[in-house]
Amino acid sequence: MSMKTDDNLVRQMEALLSRDDWVVTNLSNGAALLMDAVGGINWAGFYLVRENMLALGPFQGKPACTRIPLEKGVCGVAAAENRTLRVADTGAFPGYIACDSATRSEIVVPLHDRNGAVLGVMDIDSASPARFTEDDQRILEAVARAVERAIG
Ligand code: SME
Repeated sequence: MSMKTDDNLVRQMEALLSRDDWVVTNLSNGAALLMDAVGGINWAGFYLVRENMLALGPFQGKPACTRIPLEKGVCGVAAAENRTLRVADTGAFPGYIACDSATRSEIVVPLHDRNGAVLGVMDIDSASPARFTEDDQRILEAVARAVERAIG
């Protein structure tokens, strides 16, 4: 499979998700589409803000950490600072939370509710170092906006 993230992924995500469906339904299919459509990844899924932590939501891949404190790990920092984190070398990230020791790079994009508050993150991991490019980031941020529109 090509490692290049396809621009069509945004349209595919929009077509798959619906505001009429339950958040768990949307995020489950969203994780499945990411895993199927993005090449060279070992985990794709969502964490949702709950009681001032990130709680594991629907995902594809190996079982993962269930709770991540805000400001801890890549997911926690992305949520706390409300910005995308594209980490080329997870081993060099201070406070990295190793759910799967195979992971070498990852990208985490915050998700927002209708008022702009962070409601969770979309997390995609790869066993290859520096898997995610600036171009992947641009597309995956647009994908995250499509997810928000369905669940926010
Ligand atoms: N590595 C992440 C934790 C989540 S998992 O990789 C699925 C982090 O440091 O936030």
